[in-house]
Amino acid sequence: MILDLSGVYKDFKGLQVLNDVNLTIQEGECHAVIGPNGAGKSTLFNVITGKYRPSRGRIRFASKDITHLAPHAILRLGLARSFQITNVFPGMTVYENLRNAVLSAQKIRFSFTRLNRLEAVRAKTLKLVHTLTLDAIQDVPARELAYGQQRALEVGIALATEPRLILLDEPTAGMTKEQTREAVSLIKRITQGKTVMVVEHDMEVVFSMADRITVLSYGEVLATGSPDEIRSNERVKKAYLGKKDARTA
Ligand SMILES: Nc1ncnc2c1ncn2[C@@H]1O[C@H](COP(=O)(O)OP(=O)(O)OP(=O)(O)O)[C@@H](O)[C@H]1O
Ligand SMILES: [Mg+2]
Repeated sequence: MILDLSGVYKDFKGLQVLNDVNLTIQEGECHAVIGPNGAGKSTLFNVITGKYRPSRGRIRFASKDITHLAPHAILRLGLARSFQITNVFPGMTVYENLRNAVLSAQKIRFSFTRLNRLEAVRAKTLKLVHTLTLDAIQDVPARELAYGQQRALEVGIALATEPRLILLDEPTAGMTKEQTREAVSLIKRITQGKTVMVVEHDMEVVFSMADRITVLSYGEVLATGSPDEIRSNERVKKAYLGKKDARTA
């Protein structure tokens, strides 16, 4: 197991947002977190990445207690997050954006000798460009990319740190069905074999991507299980999946 949350609580001035969350992430799995608006999904990510401190409980990542670590320290251990608010620089090309990410990742996670530093950065950047299948447009400014390609670039920027766990909060937010389909197949491909935790509202996406699913409702874990187990779970059906449109549930 790579991540282990045990008895995690978070409240904001008396508002209980996470309530005794127990959750483990296995190495190599794609783990989706679903639940109605306001269930506490983003807060869960914020607590894991160190943006907020849990009010109670313990979080372990790669066998280390990270409960009280600052975000940059957690990132340095290999836990990365792709933000909904993009960290893509619109005026920079795809290559420059990724190079920039590799450079800053290098500062926090890798150390090369001076001599092979530039070559190593170049090689890493090109490998990322290739993984993202953005080779043909590597010299195009990011602002000219299609929406799905921009999202791919964002995930690529998060991947630049070669994280051991990557968190994606609503990677298909604001996309049309068609864009969602493209983005999902791309995200699936570039995160293959990696450990991913993803918050997603589109149930088709969730059931096609996830190895395991955790359902949050009012800050509590209703259930964790395989897509089949979640689909047939009575409590989940009642609280969430039974609703016609999970988005507005
Ligand atoms: N920094 C904060 N201060 C006070 N309340 C907060 C803060 N962050 C989140 N909340 C509250 O915590 C609750 C859960 O919010 P959160 O954003 O985690 O939900 P979510 O499951 O991600 O919802 P959505 O599906 O809409 O993204 C909400 O009631 C929200 O208003
Ligand atoms: Mg959210």
